[in-house]
Amino acid sequence: MAKQTNKKSSSPTASGRSNSKSSVSKRTTTANKNANVSGSAGNQNHPLLEKFFIDELKDIYWAEKHLVKALARLKKAATTEELQQAFEDHTAATEEHVTRLEQVFEMFGKKPQAKKCEAMDGLTREAEEIVDETEDGSMTRDVALIIAAQKVEHYEIATYGGLVQLANTMNLGEVAEILEQTLQEEKDTDQLLTYIAENDINLEAEMEGAGKENG
Ligand SMILES: [Fe+2]
Ligand SMILES: [Fe+2]
Repeated sequence: MAKQTNKKSSSPTASGRSNSKSSVSKRTTTANKNANVSGSAGNQNHPLLEKFFIDELKDIYWAEKHLVKALARLKKAATTEELQQAFEDHTAATEEHVTRLEQVFEMFGKKPQAKKCEAMDGLTREAEEIVDETEDGSMTRDVALIIAAQKVEHYEIATYGGLVQLANTMNLGEVAEILEQTLQEEKDTDQLLTYIAENDINLEAEMEGAGKENG
């Protein structure tokens, strides 16, 4: 089966992505400037919550670093150029997520430290199983990869959503602001994947299945 190329080049994120990129670098600068102020982010007003927060940071730090490698494998496995491009773009964004987490560790006066995230390990294993179980070059492969990738994004959305709330509770506005940028990018990616599935891939996969049954 030939690889399909996509004709729709203007997906919703094409513009959204560039907007978020410019605001990212602007806010990143602010975060760097304020790093010392909140280096103290670790105030002792909430020692137990803070410990929990840092543990969660270690978990998502492992997950993001792991994803940089996993996304590269998913990109190779994808059938359509559209999905390959989405994975490539999100790999670059994920590298930025790693950098932001390093900034947040720094704001707490901590060295970045990764702790294995069993959930993300499981989700990426599942994605790799999908690659083994679907036909190379098929649209069904892309349907399955999109679902697997959306499970990953939803895990990240849950994590960053919770961390942003918690940072606000602890009055760590600058930490919340940095993590909020990543949260928004995870949401954008989730929406992009839905868009790709709904506009092209699901339908083409359905036709692919029908063709096989009839012929
Ligand atoms: Fe991420
Ligand atoms: Fe992500």
